[in-house]
Amino acid sequence: MLHVNENYSKIKPTYLFAEIAHRVAAHQAAHPEAKIIRLGIGDVTEPLCPAVIEAMHKAVDDEAGKGEKFYGYGPEQGYAFLRDAIAKVDFQDRGIDIKADEILVSDGAKCDCGNIQELFAGDVRIAVGDPVYPVYVDTNVMAGRDDITLLPCTAANNFVPGPETLTTDDRTDGGSGAPEPRPVDIVYLCYPNNPTGAVATKAELQKWVDWANANQKLILFDAAYEAFIRTPGIPHSIYECEGARKCAIEFRSFSKTAGFTGIRCGYTVVPSDVVAYDAAGNAVPLKPMWTRRQTTKFNGASYITQRGAAAVYTPEGQAQTRATIDFYLENGRLMKEALLALGYTVTGGGDSPYLWVNVKGDSWEFFDKLLKEANVVTTPGAGFGKAGEGYIRISSFNSRANVLEAIERLKKVL
Ligand code: MLT
Repeated sequence: MLHVNENYSKIKPTYLFAEIAHRVAAHQAAHPEAKIIRLGIGDVTEPLCPAVIEAMHKAVDDEAGKGEKFYGYGPEQGYAFLRDAIAKVDFQDRGIDIKADEILVSDGAKCDCGNIQELFAGDVRIAVGDPVYPVYVDTNVMAGRDDITLLPCTAANNFVPGPETLTTDDRTDGGSGAPEPRPVDIVYLCYPNNPTGAVATKAELQKWVDWANANQKLILFDAAYEAFIRTPGIPHSIYECEGARKCAIEFRSFSKTAGFTGIRCGYTVVPSDVVAYDAAGNAVPLKPMWTRRQTTKFNGASYITQRGAAAVYTPEGQAQTRATIDFYLENGRLMKEALLALGYTVTGGGDSPYLWVNVKGDSWEFFDKLLKEANVVTTPGAGFGKAGEGYIRISSFNSRANVLEAIERLKKVL
């Protein structure tokens, strides 16, 4: 008999943002006249910047045989022109020791965050923040790892749990003696955080790196939102921490940095020093494994896409993408100011495109209220995990006119 992968029955039948899209579509169908403002999924609204567009036009000419040369299959790890630019601008210019051959270009951070778990044994133990970007959890559950340790991210810890969370005594069975550390092999960290918008200091990230190096653990660091950091001193990369080359893999994305949510491009950094262990306890470098995985299952992001991504690293591209992010940050600042004036407690919105709003009640109910009464789409915190209940996430990605209109509507219904 043909058996399905029953792990799929352990996850919700619909992905969070697909569920929200269904609800919004149903509301629009029932109220065709409603002008819905979407502040739910973090999808960009501003166009690609001129430097990127120009580079992509030139790349189209190349592919049409009118330019430099015709490109067919590219290197699965990414073209050297892009990997060199990434290594220089994102890392070496910031004093971080990452080389071009440690960067593997892909079609986005979501795919890489989801696929990376294929490198590890079925019984490795995973820890994630709660609330959390659902991809880390769902992809591990699909692979049979459903005993996941949740690290509560709450107002009490400024939404940044530390490794001490793994030994916090949360027993409810009256157990005595010192609490046993929760057995965890891999921790997923995301800062600036999705969904809470919180940022982690270097000292906070260093604690995780020290924990990982002292205990042969691994950090999977999602830095998809690093370009939104404006506060000096907040790390843009886990590799700003001492020793992180030995214990961390980092995911980066052009989606929010440069408006590539539809174009699709990202990259994963796997330093040559980062290892996991075989059954005999021998260290196995992860870079050759990830390279093998990508070269087998992936044919590389398109040449046109990678030319566009490389243009982000030109002086014009840097200035133009920064200006677009500043625009979104100003959207966030305006919404945060309005919500604070309405008496809400809000995290994020400064170094992140997300506002995390304490709604002091059921988050799906609050989501429905804003959808039905204000035609404004948000994301209910409960969709990101149990500790997200009581919050909604508001995205800063929209036009200024829509953001101002959303603020007026919120003022009327809240
Ligand atoms: C989000 O809204 O959380 C993100 O846009 C989802 C993603 O990047 O896949």
